[in-house]
Amino acid sequence: MTIADISQRKKFFAQNVYVPHVAVIEKIIDETPQVRTFHFNLKDEKLRQEFTFESGQFAQYSVFGVGEATFCISSSPTRRDHLEFAVNRVGKVTNALHRLGVGAEIGFRGPYGNSFPLDLLKGKNLVFVGGGIGLAPLRSLIWNVIDNRSQYENVDIIYGARTPGDLCFKYDLESWDKDSSVNMVTTIDRPFEGWTGKVGMVPNVLGEVAPSPQNSVAIVCGPPVMIRFTFPALAKLGFTPAQMITTLEKRMKCGIGKCGRCNIGPLFVCRDGPVFSYAEIQSFVSSEY
Ligand SMILES: Cc1cc2nc3c(=O)[nH]c(=O)nc-3n(C[C@H](O)[C@H](O)[C@H](O)COP(=O)(O)OP(=O)(O)OC[C@H]3O[C@@H](n4cnc5c(N)ncnc54)[C@H](O)[C@@H]3O)c2cc1C
Ligand code: FES
Repeated sequence: MTIADISQRKKFFAQNVYVPHVAVIEKIIDETPQVRTFHFNLKDEKLRQEFTFESGQFAQYSVFGVGEATFCISSSPTRRDHLEFAVNRVGKVTNALHRLGVGAEIGFRGPYGNSFPLDLLKGKNLVFVGGGIGLAPLRSLIWNVIDNRSQYENVDIIYGARTPGDLCFKYDLESWDKDSSVNMVTTIDRPFEGWTGKVGMVPNVLGEVAPSPQNSVAIVCGPPVMIRFTFPALAKLGFTPAQMITTLEKRMKCGIGKCGRCNIGPLFVCRDGPVFSYAEIQSFVSSEY
């Protein structure tokens, strides 16, 4: 290979948006039998220092030789020691990620997408409603809010899973439970031996907690069925569609609005989302939600 070839190659990689950065896994936490959290850092020191993102954004992560998949960045931009993402094992790439150990190298390109609208949330009562691994994008914002606590009013967190063993980020739940500036309610779907906490589906428990819609915004992330029942539960409490925010998950390929894979109505979830208000969602996909 000539020097001209090498310089051409370098130029190609520098300009190609699909070429991922190399990142190194630094820690792995087993959240549930199906979900693992990975702490990682970009390998290149300069990139690591320069890298910024906002709560709600996602990235494309790759296992070399296997493929690429989409995950939100689940850590908060207010905590810069490392980045985190959480992976529910469902298929090819997610299983390959679960097979990796500390020190393994992965591909990372991003951050992509819009983010939770902090300007809109500041000065408001915040009601976080999460289910299962849906807490991954929420926890980025929750820690962001806690780290800037004086900029927000009341914080309610209602989080649930099917069983105690399905609760993700238990260390966060404990921490928020101890935080006197946060009202933390954790629930499981059905009674479970040894569980002394709340029992009931998330939308029902939301109805019991009954946060006021006055000067409030609800941020909802979880399985589609939970979201489908949570929006009406919020509406019953008096929240308008513009006061309800969620993140949409559509299968993605490019992540940057080029391939058309993630379209929903006239929008691309990767480019125009993944964060939308329920009012926005209703305007383009009323039949799906
Ligand atoms: C913006 C965004 C953020 C996401 N954040 C997270 C996250 O933080 N943690 C997490 O675990 N997952 C997240 N996902 C979902 C994740 O991208 C998929 O689970 C992953 O791509 C599956 O890859 P795989 O190769 O293991 O599965 P495959 O082998 O490709 O497929 C396995 C099964 O999963 C289904 N599937 C794959 N992708 C999706 C999808 N996007 N929606 C619904 N079904 C799908 C397939 O249809 C198939 O049935 C996110 C998706 C999006 C779009
Ligand atoms: S993933 Fe390609 S356009 Fe959204």
